[in-house]
Amino acid sequence: MFNAKITGTGSYLPEKIVTNKDFESILDTTDEWIYARTGIRQRHVIAEHETTSSMAEIAAKNALDAAGVDASDIDLIIIGTSSPDRIFPSTACILQNRLGVGDCAAFDVQAACSGFIYALGIAHQFIKSGGAKKALVIGAEANSRILDYSDRSTCVIFGDGAGAVVLEASEEVGILSTHMHSDGQYKDLLYINNPIKDQQQDGENAHMTMLGNDVYKVAVKTLSRIVDETLEANNMTKSDVDWLIPHQANIRIISSVAKKLKMPMERVVLTIEEQGNTSAASVPLALDLAVRDGRIKKGETVLMEAFGGGFVWGSALVKM
Ligand code: COA
Repeated sequence: MFNAKITGTGSYLPEKIVTNKDFESILDTTDEWIYARTGIRQRHVIAEHETTSSMAEIAAKNALDAAGVDASDIDLIIIGTSSPDRIFPSTACILQNRLGVGDCAAFDVQAACSGFIYALGIAHQFIKSGGAKKALVIGAEANSRILDYSDRSTCVIFGDGAGAVVLEASEEVGILSTHMHSDGQYKDLLYINNPIKDQQQDGENAHMTMLGNDVYKVAVKTLSRIVDETLEANNMTKSDVDWLIPHQANIRIISSVAKKLKMPMERVVLTIEEQGNTSAASVPLALDLAVRDGRIKKGETVLMEAFGGGFVWGSALVKM
C-alpha cells in the first residue's frame, strides 16, 4: 500500500470577466440580489477559441511545474467535468494528446460539482494499490457553454475555469481519506439535458436546469453529515482541521458548513465572490490559490468537500 501526496497545484481562469452589473442589462436581476443570495460578484467566461481541455492544459502545466514533474512521467489522467469538449473522446484523452503524454490511462469522471473530489478519490485508490505512480487530477468546466442565458436562476451563478493537482506515490502521508456518495432520487432537481436525444427530439440545446431552493436545503444537511463522516473515519476532531476548501456554490452554504466545523471564516478558502460557481473546478481552483498565496503550508490538514447534481457529494481530508 502506498501513500498518495499532492506535490503540485495549478489553475487557470479565462481572461474575460462578466460582472453582476453586466447581467442587469440583459436580465431581470440586480447586483444586490445576486450578491446577497449567493456571495458572487463576478465570474470568468471562456473565449470563443478556448475549450475545457485548453483550460485543463494550462492548469495541468502549472501543476506539473509546481511538482517538478515532467508530463512524460504521468501515468494516469482523470478529469472531473460536466462540460467536456466532446461526448467522446474524453477531455482527459484530448488533454493527454495536448500534453504529449504517452499511452497512460486517461478518462473523465462525470460527478457534476463533485467531479474533482471523485477524480481525486479514484486517483487515490489507483496510487494506493500501486496502479499508478504519478497522476494528474483535474477539475475543468466551460459552464458558460451549457447555460441558458435567459434563465436568471442559473446563468448568474456559474463561471468557467480549471484547477489541477499532481498526485504522487509517496513515503509521506498525503491523502488521509476520500469519501464519495450519491443519491439518484434527486436527479430532477439539478441536471443538464442530453443534447443527443433532445436535439433530435425537440431541437433543444443542452442547458442546465436547477431548482435552487430545493437543492440548497439538501446541500446544507448533506455537507454537514460528510464533515462528521470524514472526521470520524480519521479519528480526528474539528480542531485538527487547518483549512476548509468547500465547493463554491453559495456563501450561505459555505458559512453553515464552517459553523458546523467551528471554523472561523478566515480558515475557509473563498473564491466565490470573484469566480462564481465553477462546478468541478471550484475546489482545485481554491486549493491552488491558497497554496500559491502561502496560506496553506506544508504539513497542514485540509478538508475539501463538494456537492452537486445527482445528487453526488464527497470529501477529501488531505495532509499537504
Ligand atoms: N435575480 C433576481 N431574482 C431571482 C434571480 C435572479 N438572478 N434568480 C431567481 N430569482 C427569484 C426567483 O424567481 C424567486 O422569485 P419568486 O419568489 O417571485 O418566485 C425568488 O428570486 C427566490 O428564488 P429562490 O430560488 O427561492 O432563491 P434562493 O434564495 O433559494 O436563491 C440560489 C437561489 C440558486 C442562489 C440558491 O437556492 C442556491 O444557492 N441553491 C443551491 C445551489 C447549489 O448548491 N447547487 C449545488 C451545487 S451546483
